[in-house]
Amino acid sequence: MNYYYITGTSRGIGKAIAEHLLDNPSNKVIGMSRQKSIEHPNYHHFFLDLTDAQQVSDFRFELHGDAKRIVLINNAGAIGFIKPIGKLEADTIIKNYTLNLIAPSILTNEFIKCYNTLDTEKVILNVSSGAGKNPIDGWAVYCSSKAGIDMFSRVVDAEQKVRAAHPQESIHKGFHIFSIAPGVVDTEMQNEIRKANANDFSRLEDFISYKAKNELSSPLTVSKKYITILDDMSKIKNVLSSIKDYE
Ligand SMILES: NC(=O)c1ccc[n+]([C@@H]2O[C@H](COP(=O)([O-])OP(=O)(O)OC[C@H]3O[C@@H](n4cnc5c(N)ncnc54)[C@H](OP(=O)(O)O)[C@@H]3O)[C@@H](O)[C@H]2O)c1
Repeated sequence: MNYYYITGTSRGIGKAIAEHLLDNPSNKVIGMSRQKSIEHPNYHHFFLDLTDAQQVSDFRFELHGDAKRIVLINNAGAIGFIKPIGKLEADTIIKNYTLNLIAPSILTNEFIKCYNTLDTEKVILNVSSGAGKNPIDGWAVYCSSKAGIDMFSRVVDAEQKVRAAHPQESIHKGFHIFSIAPGVVDTEMQNEIRKANANDFSRLEDFISYKAKNELSSPLTVSKKYITILDDMSKIKNVLSSIKDYE
């Protein structure tokens, strides 16, 4: 059996990945989000608010003795309030970093802690963003949290390589980690971006026009690409990449 822990399965990219995986009876999906929208015998849901660091810290992965592969997909994320720095509330900043950066960091740490001695394929996929590489005004917390998850992924990958060079050290080895951006996808997040105030966001018209010109990918298309990549990881050349690199 393959086990996929996925955050943000109630809608958008996370839901599409979960539903696609559930088409295969060898997969079990464990989803985490505040709402549940999937009913399936191989689906289990945890109602978690990932802006609450305590709820994230209390989450425990299960040991799966029959696992052929265990995957953590840190997908849940939010753009947060679109406003320039100087116009945000402190609590908004804390919650957005917690959801986009702290929760995936805590979950990855627990994932590696839990499965370090398990001799199976272990993968962490972080759903990153081009916004982690390019500054976008009004998105400071989102951009920096995605830049953070990219560097976090690179460090975890470097740690795995250091450990692989020491065969006598049997712990914390054998994990693959990738941070892959999905491109611009037609989800609720894009809807929220289009509702931003033009005074707080110079690129508003660009995002309205992506939708008007039908330039957004569908969550289904993107989810299939993520699964194809996960099913043949030899295609992945770098820790950081974009879905577009595999076309
Ligand atoms: N759409 C794009 O164009 C795009 C581009 C680049 C990167 N991304 C990234 O792709 C990922 C998925 O985004 P999406 O476009 O699919 O967004 P979405 O449709 O808004 O879905 C976001 C998912 O995250 C969950 N989530 C949000 N806040 C949460 C919280 N406090 N606790 C638990 N779960 C929470 C939501 O579940 P609940 O509301 O039920 O909690 C939902 O399932 C994100 O990391 C995003 O940054 C998206």
